[in-house]
Amino acid sequence: MDLQLHGQHVLVTGGSRGIGLACAREFLREGCRVTLVGRDAARMEQACAGLGAGEAVRGLCADLTDPAAALLAVDAAEAGHGPIDVLVNSAGAAKRTPFAELEPQAWHDAMQSKFFTYVHVMDPVVRRMGARGRGAIVNVVGMGGKVASPTHLPGGSANAALMLASAGLAAAWGPRGVRVNAVNPTLTLTDRLAEGLAADARLRNSTPDEVRRQAEQKMPLGRLASPEEVAALVVFLASPRASYVSGAVVSVDGANSPMVV
Ligand SMILES: NC(=O)c1ccc[n+]([C@@H]2O[C@H](COP(=O)([O-])OP(=O)(O)OC[C@H]3O[C@@H](n4cnc5c(N)ncnc54)[C@H](OP(=O)(O)O)[C@@H]3O)[C@@H](O)[C@H]2O)c1
Repeated sequence: MDLQLHGQHVLVTGGSRGIGLACAREFLREGCRVTLVGRDAARMEQACAGLGAGEAVRGLCADLTDPAAALLAVDAAEAGHGPIDVLVNSAGAAKRTPFAELEPQAWHDAMQSKFFTYVHVMDPVVRRMGARGRGAIVNVVGMGGKVASPTHLPGGSANAALMLASAGLAAAWGPRGVRVNAVNPTLTLTDRLAEGLAADARLRNSTPDEVRRQAEQKMPLGRLASPEEVAALVVFLASPRASYVSGAVVSVDGANSPMVV
């Protein structure tokens, strides 16, 4: 299927690793120009070099918990590759913490590192897209916003808030030609997974390897998701082929949480 994305400028936050990096690879394959944002300069350099796409990919460093830094990154992205046609938010880093270890600061931190990192970029980008009358935003959120996990309550709360924000922004900006969707992965094989497995292992007095084995056994498809499997859905939702899909929250969880809403 031709996704009709050729020549579009895609901004991927969290593009230096994991799901964001897999998304960047897929968009480049579709002939897009891609700008990546992450905090660590060495990781960003490595990611850009690894994509092997020359001038088609640019990396920027910014901490998106800071709204001013996020705005500067959006300005720099547009100065480099032109107006942003597609925004993918994947720069989330909410820590998994066993519930008994939770203190108020952990809830604040989760909102900063997952909710506001997305909002700080969406806010300027959705306005610019609206002014141009076109654009698509895909937020990589997480099933933890629908199904409460005892090791992911603050991050899950940020995810629940992001689903609401995505649906609400889709309704608000639809009349100006902007689509907004959310994707909910289940456990996906990225660097973040190791941290989550370690938290689960502490809670259950087990080892990360054992927790992973049990998680895989529990999955209806018998395995965890790959970043590429999440990216395939993100790229479709961002594309003109999904032109009437907006305000949707789509699970990529291999039926691990079978539910209707
Ligand atoms: N992996 C899973 O099992 C899973 C499941 C459900 C949902 N998700 C969600 O999917 C998204 C991506 O997850 P992932 O597993 O791909 O994570 P990851 O491998 O840890 O990658 C996160 C990316 O975000 C960047 N980043 C983090 N905090 C940032 C900040 N404050 N400002 C700018 N960049 C920042 C990181 O680069 P730097 O560290 O250099 O900044 C990195 O590029 C997250 O929102 C996560 O909650 C993941």
